[in-house]
Formats: sequence, structure tokens, C-alpha cells
Amino acid sequence: MEEVYNRSKVALEVIRNYIHTTPLDVSITFSKMSGCRVYLKYENLQKTGSFKVRGALFKTHNVYSEGTKGIVAASAGNHAQGVAFAAKIFGLRSVIVMPITTPISKIEATIGYGAEVILHGNIFDEAESLALNIANEKHYTYIHPFNDIDIIAGQATIAWELLKQLENIDVVVVPIGGGGLASGIISVLKIVRPNTKIIGVEPSVAPKMKKSIEMKKIVQVDARPSLADSLIVKRVGEITFKIISSTIDEIVTVDEDEIAHSMYLLLERAKTLVEGAGASTLAALISGKIQGIENKNVVAILTGGNADLTSIYRVIIRGLLKHGKMVKIYGYVPDTPGTLYRITEVIAKHRCNIVDIRHERFGERIPLLYTYIEILLEIPSREAVNSIINDLQKSGFEFHINM
Ligand SMILES: Cc1ncc(COP(=O)(O)O)c(C=O)c1O
Repeated sequence: MEEVYNRSKVALEVIRNYIHTTPLDVSITFSKMSGCRVYLKYENLQKTGSFKVRGALFKTHNVYSEGTKGIVAASAGNHAQGVAFAAKIFGLRSVIVMPITTPISKIEATIGYGAEVILHGNIFDEAESLALNIANEKHYTYIHPFNDIDIIAGQATIAWELLKQLENIDVVVVPIGGGGLASGIISVLKIVRPNTKIIGVEPSVAPKMKKSIEMKKIVQVDARPSLADSLIVKRVGEITFKIISSTIDEIVTVDEDEIAHSMYLLLERAKTLVEGAGASTLAALISGKIQGIENKNVVAILTGGNADLTSIYRVIIRGLLKHGKMVKIYGYVPDTPGTLYRITEVIAKHRCNIVDIRHERFGERIPLLYTYIEILLEIPSREAVNSIINDLQKSGFEFHINM
């Protein structure tokens, strides 16, 4: 911890000219929802779209000063962009190995920063073993995404920023992937303000740090897909485990619905795009999972904004359905000309917008000479959809709300 603390002060000086000091803003809406004063730290507005660039810059600076020929990393996401960006700043060659499943937008962004991208393997571990081989062959430096003192010290610079931005910080909520960020924040805050509570958040599909702490040794978990894809690693690092297991106050887990809801609310209320990993901190707060924070100053770090467009689309639709701003209705209606027209006429009368229609004639459960219709509607209120269903009933069509 002391070593990270000391190096983080150097990191601050080294990287300050290349990064943004991201805003820290109190949110009235989320404070009301959580029963404490919620401050959002907008690292989604950081260069490259996430805090990962902080650690990448500090590490790259150090290996550049030591005369490295180039750098190699394995990553499907934000570490890739951070390393590519840092290499460009210091004029180093960079090779990033990305799993073949990496979304095209992330591949393009990484190439855009000037890295050579190699697609290899289905999962991170396969990409990593090739990256290590390349580092060996080319005599480049391999840059680990979290289990590295300089990477951790770089991430710790967020804590120094927070200390300047808010005088009384009671609690900091931080997501845990491999644990580099949490280790960095802990190493500064537990030394400068030992009373600050640090709460870690993991997706419930991959609680690797929580499990490891319970078992008192690093354990591996199955990597299952999550909206918080940046938090999905199989195992945490030795360095990060050592720091976090002895100092963190609590680790809570959030499920996919809670992460999606948080992303939706951040878009709708805070007008900010946060990826699942970053939104997990607010998810933990608004779902009431963190005890003893009433009236406290609580910082939720929104760690990144590089959400895949297809996942944002799903999150928005899900949120609109959940908040009753969109609804799906369905019914079996006679398969005769003009039926669909009469149905849509009723909907138009209520000034509701049709987002999507599914029309299916054949299927085991569809009576002969009938057709199944499912309609996705944008609605002003729940009453509007009840009126539509009543009017459809009057016209001879029985529709139901799809819950
Ligand atoms: C947006 C975002 N949040 C959180 C994390 C977790 O960071 P760490 O692996 O240092 O725990 C990552 C890691 O890639 C990330 O990209």
C-alpha cells in the first residue's frame, strides 16, 4: 500500500498533462433515491472513455524511460485503448491482442490510437498468452491490466483528484474487475483519510474478489457474460488481492437488472452514457445494498463510458418497459384483410406510437385462421394502454399486456 501511495504522487505529476481532471458532481436525484449525498465522479468523460488510461500512461511512461522498444497488451476493452493511447503519446510501438469476440467499435478505436491489433482467441486468457509470446519474441514490455504496481499507482490518481474536489468524503464506491482501481483508491485514501470507507462492487455473475476474500486465497470463478463486461475476469491479481483483502470495508454484488437500470437512469436523469462496469457503483447505491450511508457523502465512480451500441439499445428498451413508457401488447386476431388496419386505427386514436409489430400466422398455439400479433408501443401513461385494450375489446379484438 505504501509503495502505491508513494508512486501515485509521482504518477499524478507524470500523467496530469495528458488526462482530464474529470468532474465530480452531486446528484440530487440519486441522493434522494439512495438516502445519502451521492457524488458522481465522471471518469466516463476521461480521455479514451475510461479511467484505464491513467494507469496505462504512468506504466508506459516508466517503461519508455527505461528504454523499452515497444509495448504489448491483451484486452477486449478499455485497457487496450488506454495502452494504445499512451504508446502514441510516448512515441512507442504498441501491439494489442484482442479476443476475436471483441466488438468492432473497440477494435477500431484501438487501431485509431495507432496500435497494431491482432485478433486471437475466444477469451482473454488466450489473447494474453499470445501477447506474452509476442513480448518475448520482440523484446517488448507486456503491460498487465491490473496486477502491476505502476498501473495501480496510475489508477490511484483518481483518489488524489477526489481529495481536492470534496473535503469530506465518507464513502467511495468502486467497481472491481481485477482490482487495480480499488487497490489504487484504497492505497491513497486509507493513508490520507483512514476513516473513509471503501466499498467494492462486483457483478453477481463474477464475484471473484468477494469469493477470494471469503476463502482467504485467490479463487477462480467462471467468466459468464455481463453488461459489466469490463469487470469479468476469472481471477484477481496477487498484488490486488493482497491490498484489497486486508483493507476493503465491504464488497457488494449487483445483478444484471440492477446494472441495466442504473445505466438507464444515468442516461435519462444525468444525461450521461456510462458502460455497465461504471454504472455498477450507482446500481449498488440505488438498490439499497450498501448499509450505513444515511446522510453521508458518498462518491460513486462512473469508471467508463465505452458501452457497445447494441447493449445501450437493449438497456434503453428495457428501461422504457420497466418505467411504463413502453409496453408490449399481444393478441390472437382473425386473419382477414383489414384487421391490422383496424387495430392500428384504435392505437392511433389514442396518439400512441407503434415502435414494432410482430405478426405470426403459423405456430402450434395459433388457432387456424387466426394470426398472433405483438405490438410494442410508446405510451404516455399506463392509463393510455388500458384505454387502448378496452377500445380494441369493443372492436372485437382481445389484447393483453405482455409483462
Ligand atoms: C470501465 C471499467 N470499470 C472498472 C474496471 C475494473 O478495473 P480493475 O480491473 O482495475 O478492477 C475496468 C477494467 O477494465 C473498466 O474498464
